[in-house]
Amino acid sequence: MQYFGLHEIDAKNVRVGLTFDDVLLVPKRSDIKSRKNVNTKTMLSRNIELNIPIVSANMDTVTESEMAITIARLGGIGIIHRFLTQNQQVSEVLKVKRSEGIMIEQPITINSDGTVYQVKELMRNNKIGGILVKNDNDKLIGIITKRDLFFEYDDKKPVKDIMSKDLITAPDGTTLDEAKKIFIDNKIEKLPIVSSEGNLIGLITSKDIDKRERFPIASKDNKGRLMVGAAIGVKDNDLDRAQALCEAGADAIVVDIAHGHSDLAIDMITKLRKHLNGVDIIAGNVATSKGAEDLIKADVDGIKIGVGSGSICITRIVTGTGVPQLTAINDAAIIAQKHNIPVIADGGIRTSGDITKAIAAGSSSVMIGSLLAGTDESPGITIMRPNGKFKMTRGMASLSAAVERKSKESESVDENYLLDYVPEGVEAMVPHRGQATDVINKLVGGLRSGLSYSGAHNLNELRDNSEFIRITEAGKAESGPHDVNILD
Ligand code: XMP
Repeated sequence: MQYFGLHEIDAKNVRVGLTFDDVLLVPKRSDIKSRKNVNTKTMLSRNIELNIPIVSANMDTVTESEMAITIARLGGIGIIHRFLTQNQQVSEVLKVKRSEGIMIEQPITINSDGTVYQVKELMRNNKIGGILVKNDNDKLIGIITKRDLFFEYDDKKPVKDIMSKDLITAPDGTTLDEAKKIFIDNKIEKLPIVSSEGNLIGLITSKDIDKRERFPIASKDNKGRLMVGAAIGVKDNDLDRAQALCEAGADAIVVDIAHGHSDLAIDMITKLRKHLNGVDIIAGNVATSKGAEDLIKADVDGIKIGVGSGSICITRIVTGTGVPQLTAINDAAIIAQKHNIPVIADGGIRTSGDITKAIAAGSSSVMIGSLLAGTDESPGITIMRPNGKFKMTRGMASLSAAVERKSKESESVDENYLLDYVPEGVEAMVPHRGQATDVINKLVGGLRSGLSYSGAHNLNELRDNSEFIRITEAGKAESGPHDVNILD
């Protein structure tokens, strides 16, 4: 066999790829008096603005509705993973969309002939404390709340026997301030909005008003609902899935494929562009300038950067392919900024310092997996060990994730499938880290301090004015605690 294109490796001219630990940001003169005075607003994608540059990863041990709700309230966004059935994924999106809003447009209702058992199921599945009751003519006739169910053990009893009938309602066009007054004056928590014909238009809850006041920088769509993204693959049925996710209210569709610089990804972006409206299309993952450019040509609204950078990835070991993450971000961002397309740095974030570096290198936001997998809001299993509490996480290309996916498709997993499968991810334990809110607040606090060290009032200034310095192993050792016995 003959080779015709082989080149000698030109060691002197092989590029150096850098990652987070290879560099530090050089401190700059700053007029910032308090880190509270810096602005962390950013763009996730062409049309989606976030107040903090943090995105939770589309992994099955990281983002379902609970994580997505928490992170959106704090000003970031979660991307619901795609390793669910289409219906399950749609239902996770709906849970986020229904969690709060100016007005819940399609509140969950039950017919007055429904049973106590059905009410309990609806409450449990949708994590809600009250359900509106309609008659056969679709008119609103009552409400049933947890209070009505106290000491109610007869699951077969019809709803009409125990519901509250004296409902306080308000007309279409009621403002939130008016609703708040009605809540206070009447000591109620739920206010159905009803048309002059008695038809249910929507529901305003006191909790929603409370949440608006408690989470002032939450990521909201134009109906006041929390924003959420959803990932899809590149198979034929993924177009249907994307359409269903959009109908459920997803704000961004993320084409999620390990090698995003591929015809498969580009074809899917083209199809989505043709069929979807009013939703941002994000695609990845790529790790090069050419990869970013080709996705931009396919008309994406945002690009995810990172091949083999994630904590649970073994792609670089298994395939010998990848680009150290800081260089990958920088290469992609330089081309993307010419087209005004934001890039998301995906994988490898361990500290707030890494976030500052990722943004200084050109990304607009960071996607985080294992750091959030350890929190209460992640779907992962909690494990108690003598040395502490842990949660499970895993690469979406790990053997365990592949087996689970396959076993959902068919009753038994073919032995040959397992033998042929080449994992590019591992299964791992991460320390239990408590509430996601605390983790995210610490990360954002560190980023804010990072901005002030660079004299940057906002993320644009950080990207424009920061200066990296490359460090040695000795510099790296000096950067952490050293020559002391750490107490905690
Ligand atoms: P972190 O470091 O935040 O990274 O845990 C999360 C990102 O890792 C990617 N990911 C994978 N990459 N094999 C890979 O090569 C895998 O099995 C795998 N699973 C997740 C993904 O981009 C995620 O957001």
